[in-house]
Amino acid sequence: MKLAVFGATGRMGLTVVRLAAEQAIQLVGAIDAANSPHLGRDVGELAGTGTLGVAVGADVASGLLGADVVIDFSTAGAFDALLRAAAHAGVAVVSGTTRLASSSVALIDRSAAKIPVLWAPNMSVGVHVLAEAVRRAVQVLGDYDVELVEAHHNQKTDAPSGTATMLIEAAQRGRASLVPVHGREGDVGVRKPDELGVHAIRGGGIVGDHTVHLIGQFDRIEFTHRALSRELFAAGALRAARWLLGKSAGRYELAQVIAGD
Ligand SMILES: NC(=O)c1ccc[n+]([C@@H]2O[C@H](COP(=O)([O-])OP(=O)(O)OC[C@H]3O[C@@H](n4cnc5c(N)ncnc54)[C@H](OP(=O)(O)O)[C@@H]3O)[C@@H](O)[C@H]2O)c1
Repeated sequence: MKLAVFGATGRMGLTVVRLAAEQAIQLVGAIDAANSPHLGRDVGELAGTGTLGVAVGADVASGLLGADVVIDFSTAGAFDALLRAAAHAGVAVVSGTTRLASSSVALIDRSAAKIPVLWAPNMSVGVHVLAEAVRRAVQVLGDYDVELVEAHHNQKTDAPSGTATMLIEAAQRGRASLVPVHGREGDVGVRKPDELGVHAIRGGGIVGDHTVHLIGQFDRIEFTHRALSRELFAAGALRAARWLLGKSAGRYELAQVIAGD
């Protein structure tokens, strides 16, 4: 597999570069923002793997040259340009970038007519198992109150996390009437049965924790996933990239990778 990384010098991008090197995957491109202070530097040196002979560049088309797959962990604002360039170059895309605009989601569908695309707001197998457990529990425990708490590092700029949104959607598949209520402040009145309270903690170096609480009159159940390292998401993205190799154009889901379809 010949791999390019977009958002290459970010927290996730460097983790993907490091893990790809450990897995002896050939890196052919490393793309970052035009104002990145790391342009021209060897991405392997930045990632701590030693020289890989791939300099960080800002030109997407040249960064994708020779790649089979590009892994993207960047920003919602950068996503469309990557997708257009990848569709033009015929390079498959694995993206974990969150908070995409609805126009970007529509662009995924259009690009999937030309290239294989897999976008997932959480690349960990464990979280997908959690989402299914949450869906089932909410469905069975129909009158329990549902609340979600997520925690991330103090550099995260968006809330709720993409994973929290994914878990909200899973709970709504279990009980369609659930309505997210983001944080509570002031005289908000008594909790309505169909509220799904969503709360965000930000601090220190937390990689990503998500807890879904199901609270009844006589007991409470808590489903918790804690990411211990960013390698969890990088490993999932690399697994998805390998799975996508040789696939025909289309939009794919991480659930298909997990199921080994
Ligand atoms: N799906 C998952 O499992 C998962 C897991 C973790 C994170 N994420 C998501 O992945 C994304 C990145 O997270 P992170 O923690 O790695 O963030 P980060 O450290 O801020 O990295 C983002 C990288 O993208 C670069 N970038 C910005 N504009 C760009 C452009 N126009 N072209 C190319 N690169 C550009 C940034 O460069 P500059 O710093 O120079 O601007 C930075 O290197 C976020 O959306 C996050 O929510 C998803």
